[in-house]
Amino acid sequence: MVDRLFSERKLAELYDVLYPWNCSPDDAFYLDLVMEASSVLDVGCGTGLLLRRAREVGHTGRLRGLDPAAAMLDVGRAAGDGTGAGVEWVHGDLTTVPHDREFDLVVMTGHAFQVFLTDDEVRAALAAVRTALVDGGRFAFETRNPAARAWERWTPDHPREVVDPNGFRARCEHRVDTPVEGELVSFTTTFTADSLDGPETSRSTLRFLDADTLTRFLEEAGLIVEARYGWWDRSPLTAESPEIIVIARRDRPAPGPGPQQRQHPSGSYRMAGPRHPQYLEHPDHPEHPDEGTDQTVARAVKLIRANALSDVAEYAYAATAPPEARLIFLAGACPLNEDGSTAAVGDYAGQAAKAVENMRVALEAAGASLEDVISTRVLVASNRQEDLVAAWEVVRDAFGDHDVPSTLMGVTVLGYDDQLVEIEGIAAVLDS
Ligand SMILES: C[S@@+](CC[C@H](N)C(=O)[O-])C[C@H]1O[C@@H](n2cnc3c(N)ncnc32)[C@H](O)[C@@H]1O
Repeated sequence: MVDRLFSERKLAELYDVLYPWNCSPDDAFYLDLVMEASSVLDVGCGTGLLLRRAREVGHTGRLRGLDPAAAMLDVGRAAGDGTGAGVEWVHGDLTTVPHDREFDLVVMTGHAFQVFLTDDEVRAALAAVRTALVDGGRFAFETRNPAARAWERWTPDHPREVVDPNGFRARCEHRVDTPVEGELVSFTTTFTADSLDGPETSRSTLRFLDADTLTRFLEEAGLIVEARYGWWDRSPLTAESPEIIVIARRDRPAPGPGPQQRQHPSGSYRMAGPRHPQYLEHPDHPEHPDEGTDQTVARAVKLIRANALSDVAEYAYAATAPPEARLIFLAGACPLNEDGSTAAVGDYAGQAAKAVENMRVALEAAGASLEDVISTRVLVASNRQEDLVAAWEVVRDAFGDHDVPSTLMGVTVLGYDDQLVEIEGIAAVLDS
């Protein structure tokens, strides 16, 4: 059931007064993402401020807002000239309204993600988000970092008080149920406003998930974490960051076995089963690239584990290919867009994802796929280990079970403007 502050029209009408556009830096962060995407689903859109704003500043694609609070949708629809700003206003949630590979971007803003209180709710929501995304589509959202203990400042002596340009006054304050134990924080919000006869209250409970648990849920759902930030200026996530801001991507299916690939006695390779068994629970799981469980295709590359060495490395220690394999030497894969501009400026994980995407294209042109890569070297323009790790995690996830020998290194500078990541690779394929 939706909290009263969203479901009651007189309280929903206070939302945009208390939290107008640009009252927080998250608005600009999400608007940039929305403007880059041609189709967007805003889950828990509330009054749809983000989508309305995107339309105002020239978004011409599909904008759909989904929310279980009809009153919030009504306020959004009625705003402006009252025609709904060309937004699809949809009443419901991720479990009641199905979507199938329709959106380049799914967002959950305003900490809406924290309404999922149980593991089952989180899993169901993430599965539905993945299903709603096109291959390579992105899911961007944030949740408050439990380590920052924001609820300790949700006290009556920290009220939010606003007077809008027409002189209309609104105020809200919170009182948290104590003691707070575990991940759930319950609280009462009390509203006063010129439009209300007296104080009105609403009860809420939010879940504060830690970053590692969240990442595990995303991975289980088949969403690859591309970037994690601790604040809206895209500064890295640290233990004390106020926010856990995540951009995750639905992976693209690997190119299927082409007609040129056939059984080879020395290089037969059984495609790995799902890395995460939870994939099997997805309604759309047959489309997942890892799920061709019984397919056998010819592969040249054999990974060697070297069990005598430490198992902390997230890659095989060596790899070989038979003498008849054709070797493919790739140019360093760069995070460049088709027009030559650098993608994901300032974003190590985002650039790693773009470089992997470009590497796949180059491999395909050479009759190969990521599964044919025999080794990689990941170059990161930084002297901070965390930046190297941010890029590495994306590369590691893209390769999945085909964890080829790899070297990760920080370099002083890379060749293109704003370039932070480059991935070198060699591949080996069996042509006959
Ligand atoms: C704090 S508001 C955020 C609204 C909007 N995203 C924003 O940033 O302004 C949280 C919204 O989540 C919605 N909500 C509550 N339960 C939900 C659920 N299970 N699925 C999706 N949205 C939900 C509420 O109705 C409310 O509109």
